[in-house]
Amino acid sequence: MESARVASFGTSVFSEFSRLAALHGAVNLGQGFPDFDGPKEIAQAAIDAINGGVNQYAVGQGAPVLRAAIAAHSQRFYGQVLDPASEIGVTSGATEAIFDAVQAFTNPGDEVVLFEPFYDSYLASVQLAQAVPRFVRLRAPDTAHAQWWLDDAELEAAFTPRTKLVIVNTPHNPTGKLFTRAELERIGELTRKAGAVLLSDEVYEHLVFDAGKHVRPATLPGFKDFTLTISSGGKSFSFTGWKIGWHLGRAELVTAVQKVHQWVTFCSGAPFQVAIAKALELPDSYFQGFVQSYTQKRDFLTAALNTAGFEVLPCEGTYFLMARTDRHRRAGEDDVAFCRRLLVDHGIATIPTSGFHSAEHAVHVHGMARFAFCKTEAVLQAAADRLSKL
Ligand SMILES: Cc1ncc(COP(=O)(O)O)c(C=O)c1O
Repeated sequence: MESARVASFGTSVFSEFSRLAALHGAVNLGQGFPDFDGPKEIAQAAIDAINGGVNQYAVGQGAPVLRAAIAAHSQRFYGQVLDPASEIGVTSGATEAIFDAVQAFTNPGDEVVLFEPFYDSYLASVQLAQAVPRFVRLRAPDTAHAQWWLDDAELEAAFTPRTKLVIVNTPHNPTGKLFTRAELERIGELTRKAGAVLLSDEVYEHLVFDAGKHVRPATLPGFKDFTLTISSGGKSFSFTGWKIGWHLGRAELVTAVQKVHQWVTFCSGAPFQVAIAKALELPDSYFQGFVQSYTQKRDFLTAALNTAGFEVLPCEGTYFLMARTDRHRRAGEDDVAFCRRLLVDHGIATIPTSGFHSAEHAVHVHGMARFAFCKTEAVLQAAADRLSKL
């Protein structure tokens, strides 16, 4: 009964590990959502909007108050000037924007460049559009590279006359990498040459640590023509369940995505749009405190993992740590088998990273696992206690 497009979709690794975590009472460092709420005043803004009668369909393109707040936020953090009337659209989370954009910019058989590991909705969206993924591997840090890196020849070879879309994600889930300006310039150069669209998923834009700087590709010289930026309120304000996402860029790009959006969901939750508009207006001190608190969580979990014999790779952004598991992995165990054993025998839920790869490249990360640190101190402490007994 299922269409061929859908028949290949199994249960995602996230669903499987969430189910197992609940079944075994594991400390859950798996799926990437906070186990705490965002600011009380923002939750109250949603409640006030509901009580105040903001309960019917919102304007399809996004509530004007939210689009105005997105424009002001883009100007405040990136000096990016946008027209809220034509250069911003709202969707049900970044996930819908990604789906809509892939539909909007590809015909069946067109090619989409994806960087592995990738957020798994990219590949599903490409498959649903009957487009063809072309993978470029991010390579793990090694003696010559302090951070995750790209092989330039492999990058260039991924572009063909059929390339219509390139999806980049910075800060990057699951590696924690910040793409450098030089890397983005090179990707942009190839995208422009191909006449393709660059989709930049920046949902972790406010989770950048130490001296790192998030570069918004759309603000690089010449990028405006072909770059669509996607973000959402879920990660930055700890309300992932509200699913308020947005996309911004040149009017023609936004209009193309909105054409799909009108037939997918038409609009996203009206009262949550009002509340996320308020969140985007929070003072700089909110964003500073947010990074500070996540820096502590990252450092705490890094120390616990290193002490337990994992090798934690550098994390410049997001709320994920990638760690090498070789010290604990048994002969012949791949990442899924290892993470399942860590969960069932030791009560620690993580995400095996092969789920973020094409089948042919999964082997490169069989020795790694992803640990989420968007958790309360008590949960991170419980994880550290269990790790210390490994
Ligand atoms: C890279 C990336 N993009 C998009 C999303 C989804 O964002 P939203 O919840 O706004 O749909 C996630 C969530 O984990 C993500 O990691």
